[in-house]
Amino acid sequence: MDIKKVMVIGAGQMGSGIAQVCAQSGFDVFLNDMSEQALEKGMKNIEKLLMRAVEKERITETQKTDTLNRLHPSTTLTDAASCDVVIEAVVENMEVKAKVFAELDNITPKHAILASNTSSLPITEIAGATSRPDQVIGMHFMNPVPIMKLVEIIRGLQTSDETYQTIENMAKQLAKTSVEVSDLPGFAANRILMPMINEAVFALYEGVASVEDIDTVMKLGMNHPMGPLTLADFIGLDTCLYIMEVLYEGFGDSKYRPCPLLRKYVNAGWLGKKSGRGFYQYGD
Ligand code: NAI
Repeated sequence: MDIKKVMVIGAGQMGSGIAQVCAQSGFDVFLNDMSEQALEKGMKNIEKLLMRAVEKERITETQKTDTLNRLHPSTTLTDAASCDVVIEAVVENMEVKAKVFAELDNITPKHAILASNTSSLPITEIAGATSRPDQVIGMHFMNPVPIMKLVEIIRGLQTSDETYQTIENMAKQLAKTSVEVSDLPGFAANRILMPMINEAVFALYEGVASVEDIDTVMKLGMNHPMGPLTLADFIGLDTCLYIMEVLYEGFGDSKYRPCPLLRKYVNAGWLGKKSGRGFYQYGD
């Protein structure tokens, strides 16, 4: 399939990044959000990032203008009626996503592929909300989208080879490297990353080493660009806990039990960088 028009739903952290990368790669893009305020913020954010890219001479002024001209803000899903691919990046909630997919199923042309950027919800279940499960697929981008090279492409139980090929080609057009992943809890990225972060929290909880020293071990000992506790603060401790719970429930294996210290911090409202406190303190 020749993809011309794309809709990205959700203009938050991920959706705005995905829309930016799609527009920069030459696709005509609707960026949709049900909140006008969020949409405005998302569009402003893209403009700011593109301006910075011009300043750093990574793109030209003309490329910036062309990219912005290909981006169309949208507050109604009916705009998806002219789209070949829709990438959903709304809140991580099955009920909300299922509703969006059911609506898209009614609105989009028959050939359209419906993709989800979910980081933990089963693609097979999302596909169940539509009458075209063979054209539903996971497209899991990493944060921040314009910088991170990886896309996990997740095959739901009924995803067709044709759908997979189209999305794999699209990822190439977006200058991303994709990996093929099957629809199991945590996919591949979070299946590996989150237990490592959880184990780092256990090491802290059991007094093995201090916060700083645990991070130093992984940075200088394993050459990770960032220690696991710093990374957890960046991702958000609530998100880390949520994904550990998905793994724990999905596999029923005690090796995925969330560390009690992680839960305690989340209960206290220590959610990491976004709340000003996690394993480290931020701001004043
Ligand atoms: P966010 O909270 O920054 O943005 C979500 C946006 O969706 C908000 O602007 C909200 O107004 C909008 N929205 C909610 N319901 C909607 C609806 N029915 N129709 C249209 N817009 C709607 O969330 P974020 O972080 O961008 O995450 C979005 C998705 O991406 C989630 O599924 C998340 O799991 C996934 N993800 C997040 C990553 C991250 O590091 N934040 C990394 C990879 C995936």
